[in-house]
Amino acid sequence: MIVRREAVLCLEEVSRDGAYANLIVPNYTKKLTDARQEGLFRRLVYGTLENLLYLDYILEQVSGKKLESLDERVLWGIRIGTYQLCFMDLKDHGAIYETVEAIKRLNRRHSAGFVNGVLRSVQRKKEKLLKIEDQEPLDELSIKTSIPKFILEQWLELWGINTVIEIAESFQKTAKFFIRPNPIKIADEILLRKLEEQGYTLDKSESVEHCYSIEKPFHIVETNAFKEGLFAIQDSSSINVVNSMNIESTDTVLDMCAAPGGKACHIAALATNGAVVAADIYEHKVGLIKDYADRMGIKNMEVVQQDSRKERPYWCEKFDKILLDAPCSGLGVIGRKPDLRWKRKREDISELAAIQSELLEMSYKYLKPGGILTYSVCTMSKEETVDHFYRLDNNPNWERIDELEGQFLLPMKTEGDGFYVMHWKKRA
Ligand SMILES: C[S@@+](CC[C@H](N)C(=O)[O-])C[C@H]1O[C@@H](n2cnc3c(N)ncnc32)[C@H](O)[C@@H]1O
Repeated sequence: MIVRREAVLCLEEVSRDGAYANLIVPNYTKKLTDARQEGLFRRLVYGTLENLLYLDYILEQVSGKKLESLDERVLWGIRIGTYQLCFMDLKDHGAIYETVEAIKRLNRRHSAGFVNGVLRSVQRKKEKLLKIEDQEPLDELSIKTSIPKFILEQWLELWGINTVIEIAESFQKTAKFFIRPNPIKIADEILLRKLEEQGYTLDKSESVEHCYSIEKPFHIVETNAFKEGLFAIQDSSSINVVNSMNIESTDTVLDMCAAPGGKACHIAALATNGAVVAADIYEHKVGLIKDYADRMGIKNMEVVQQDSRKERPYWCEKFDKILLDAPCSGLGVIGRKPDLRWKRKREDISELAAIQSELLEMSYKYLKPGGILTYSVCTMSKEETVDHFYRLDNNPNWERIDELEGQFLLPMKTEGDGFYVMHWKKRA
């Protein structure tokens, strides 16, 4: 029951304090004793967040109370219980018993009967409860994939319903875990051998160079290979963005929004005789980039705190290439970070698009004539992607490089995060 107890506490922290699950999960897994417990804990936390709308749809039919009126801890208890009964291959009796015991040990002994009753009802009627009935098609998709309707509507502005269904369903599959070997320190094959000797199974990506998935990455950050910076943990789409920049060894590159530093470190490892400037607006995030670069053994990078919307005269016309991996709504990472879908609001999108426009304008000043801009976002809303493309396409200062209106990296094709990337040349 310790795993269920910790899962409820973790989910409570996500909803009560607005904590990001990926940042706090390690604080909880530290308390667990083995890989089996850690695997179950992660599955309960991420699975519950990924299926929240569906779970609440089920629970509304059996709880006899408005879910909003329930004590938060009890609500997370019945949610993780229902997740186990409806979406996991566990013995029902054991799942209910362990969940009720966890609730008792979380100072909610008085609610144990209620939790037990609700979960028994779910167990008895689950086939019927799982049927989604009398809903509009988009509401049905929203419940089935637990993706808020406004997010599906964003995608419908870009694609037809069949593609939107494919995207939504692919975010419900377990997100793959990718790494990128650090060429400064080790060749790909030697790293693979090292990790395989330690029991990890790696698979080379078919579409992205220097990218490998690991099936069960438990405790990977505790390996010496990670601590010594022999590899970076990075999504395949993120690796793909830097691959698309065609970095040359002598390039001088600015990464305008660089924290935590994954792409900047990748660029620095390729621009071996050049230089990288990595900027971020937040002081604490500047520290993250420095730590990342130190671990990776990078010597050709300057890290600065800077609001990149504001002009820094020294940077004007200094760079061969710029990466603008802009702050965005993150709708492309809701597979790996399922709590993001509950944090994001419709109105955030226009605010972020306005910031992206300001950053794009400033990128022009910093490029040398003939220099290349790569703009990327880990999202798929029209305002943050192709709308910028059309604006730049109508601006005589920029020359388009891409044949299409930029490129969407979609999860059902890449098995990674959803991303958008476009490339522009500053006219001389
Ligand atoms: C998508 S993340 C960048 C991820 C990074 N490229 C990587 O691969 O690790 C966007 C970053 O932009 C930073 N940011 C937001 N507004 C900014 C601004 N006006 N100037 C500079 N950085 C900014 C955020 O702090 C955040 O770290």
